[in-house]
Amino acid sequence: MHLSSVLALLLPLSGVVVSGKAVTNEKRQVYGVTSKYCSTASGNVPALCYLQYYVSPTQPTFRIAIPSDASPSQPFDTILQIHSPHANTWAGFSWGGGMTLNPLTVAWPNGNQGQVTVSSRWSSGRTTPGVYSQATLTKLSQSRNSTHWSVEVACKGCSKWTGSYGGALNVNSGTVQQFAWAISRTAVPQPANSAASFPVHNTQGMFSEPLEFAKNARATFNSYVQNKKP
Ligand code: HEM
Repeated sequence: MHLSSVLALLLPLSGVVVSGKAVTNEKRQVYGVTSKYCSTASGNVPALCYLQYYVSPTQPTFRIAIPSDASPSQPFDTILQIHSPHANTWAGFSWGGGMTLNPLTVAWPNGNQGQVTVSSRWSSGRTTPGVYSQATLTKLSQSRNSTHWSVEVACKGCSKWTGSYGGALNVNSGTVQQFAWAISRTAVPQPANSAASFPVHNTQGMFSEPLEFAKNARATFNSYVQNKKP
């Protein structure tokens, strides 16, 4: 079966995978597939295209979007979508490709009517990451069905970070950017609290890919952020 057909069956969100390829990388990583995924327009919310990363039916699918004129020297907003099976009690995404010294976006269902808590974190060691207030998250959508919970956030402050290990997303065509992710299967004790402590991950991994698939015209990107409401 063609890759896009497989992904369409696995991912019951509206939208289409327009191209894809298998990637293998990191020593800790299982195989994954990156692809370009585009949502469909709805009302005043335009269609948006994402770089999608899919590992397996038991792990979350991550999708990221950025404006096409983003420059590494200037901070720019980013969009992250997480679509996770219920067995994962939290899912985290690392914008710099590792656990430490880069912005982390973590999300978990808060147990109330499909609400999802999102939290901006940073860790300087391999211990529970603390709240990172230099990045702010705006929730664009959240949902829950019989098998998955989903959330989408816009992040201000996830594209560029400072400090002795400062960094920025590499947006240059053809240059790979490393990302990382983690999930836990142990319950988050205070799920309504975005500053809460949460249990260590059961699985973590990394992937590397250029950001081409994530790029959208600036006007489309801005309109999406402005009009998409949770
Ligand atoms: C309670 C919170 C957490 C604890 C106690 C924790 C602890 C650890 C430990 C001990 C390791 C080293 C494992 C090894 O060497 O085999 C590790 C690695 C890793 N963690 Fe976490 N972690 C936490 C949260 C997170 C979050 C929220 C993310 C991502 C959003 C994350 C991403 C990673 C990744 C990608 C690695 C492997 C690469 C690396 O070491 O940087 N962790 N973590």
